[in-house]
Amino acid sequence: MTHFVPPYPKRHKQDISPLKSLLLARRDLLSIWTEDSFELELMSQKILKQHVFIANSPDLVKEIFVTRHQNYERKSPQMRRALEPLLGDGLFISDGETWARRRKMQTHLFNVAHIKRYSTTMIDTTAEMVESWAKTTSGESLLVLPEMAKLTAEIISRALFGEKMGAEYASEVVDAFSDYQASVSQMAIPNFLGLPDWFPMIGSKRGRINSSAKRIHDIVDSIIEKAAHDPKQDTIATELLAANKAGENINKEQIRNEMIVLFMAGHETTANTLAWFWYLVSQSPEVEKKLHEELDNVLNGALPTYEDVPKLVYTRAILEETMRLYPPVPLLSRQAKNEDILRNKTIPAGSIMIVSPWLIQRHKRYWDKPDHFIPERFMPGAKKPIKFTYLPFSLGPRVCIGKSFGLTESILCTAILAQKYRLTLPQGEKVTHECRLTLRPKGKLPMTLIHR
Ligand code: HEM
Repeated sequence: MTHFVPPYPKRHKQDISPLKSLLLARRDLLSIWTEDSFELELMSQKILKQHVFIANSPDLVKEIFVTRHQNYERKSPQMRRALEPLLGDGLFISDGETWARRRKMQTHLFNVAHIKRYSTTMIDTTAEMVESWAKTTSGESLLVLPEMAKLTAEIISRALFGEKMGAEYASEVVDAFSDYQASVSQMAIPNFLGLPDWFPMIGSKRGRINSSAKRIHDIVDSIIEKAAHDPKQDTIATELLAANKAGENINKEQIRNEMIVLFMAGHETTANTLAWFWYLVSQSPEVEKKLHEELDNVLNGALPTYEDVPKLVYTRAILEETMRLYPPVPLLSRQAKNEDILRNKTIPAGSIMIVSPWLIQRHKRYWDKPDHFIPERFMPGAKKPIKFTYLPFSLGPRVCIGKSFGLTESILCTAILAQKYRLTLPQGEKVTHECRLTLRPKGKLPMTLIHR
């Protein structure tokens, strides 16, 4: 089998100056790395008085996310600053006791019984997309990234707000989010590098950030108000409202914050994964053939059920390899609470600590053919990846709470769509990446829709 090497940004031969990496990072966070970065284990830089460390080995990842989690649980101040107007004290950016209490309160919303319930929504929503694609003529062009974003936004929206309101409000919430993202984009790119607070504010307008956050708050508040009058529905909104009614420590504003976190964290990451999946499969005829064989054997033309998910091992392996090569969240950044020592290096309190799935998932020491697309490495029976070198969902107590949601959703969506359709890349179409808060294909990823 010949393996495809999908494109990645040029790697510098030698170290680049902090100022140059800053300027490059403003455009593209993945363009700052040298060849060495994929071999080194602990890197450090001092950028404008700020210590920035990059931990890039399994033992260090374990220390940061598991063993010394409490010292590194706090998101970087720049990340908090960018998201606070929108998320308030929501799970994604809170820490300490607030984080621990909210995390505990929401854990059951992502247990097996709940994922099984959401899977019906995932299947129904994707089946509706199959129907809408059926109206096209084979060979038509399709903008894959927005199409996948529409699908995942609708799924999370229905899980949060219920079938009717979810479908009604999904696109309105997405629009409001795009507006917010545009208003913070100036801040978002250098955030991870731990630049001083004034730096990202150049050119960005606090007023616009606050007003686009308010637009989202108003929409979500009105959905929650309606949900409060219809408590019969099984949705995340009604469950959190029931917790509030039962006297648990969460008020309506905090419920809104958590709903916004789940919407934000839950749709773009999955949409990006799905978009990369279609691109990678389209470039690897042998992988595509094996995918179709699995779908035909396991599903035999029927829609999958939740019980089929564990049987779709190759579909899952393709998705896992997709997230290794293109992790939707390519950089995880934290702020050290107290001074620490790692590998005999002093980490001053307040330092920015970065773990990058982009780097460690392509690390030359830990991965064989790190830049090749080889889904077989994730198949049962293959040698398992070295622990703590694969972390598209992060690891430890702050691991993505929606990991099973996102994986189940990705498997069901791709299985249902690939059963009926192929997506091919038009001749001459070049695919590159865009890296902002998340990593996605640049542009809208136009592909050709072929009916199978
Ligand atoms: C392929 C899909 C997904 C990927 C790759 C992904 C990845 C991640 C990563 C890397 C983090 C940690 C971020 C950090 O530490 O800075 C995270 C956190 C989080 N994710 Fe996901 N995610 C996905 C889907 C979802 C879904 C579907 C949901 C909700 C339904 C979700 C909700 C969250 C929440 C609430 C957090 C914050 C958890 C905490 O801090 O305790 N994610 N996700």
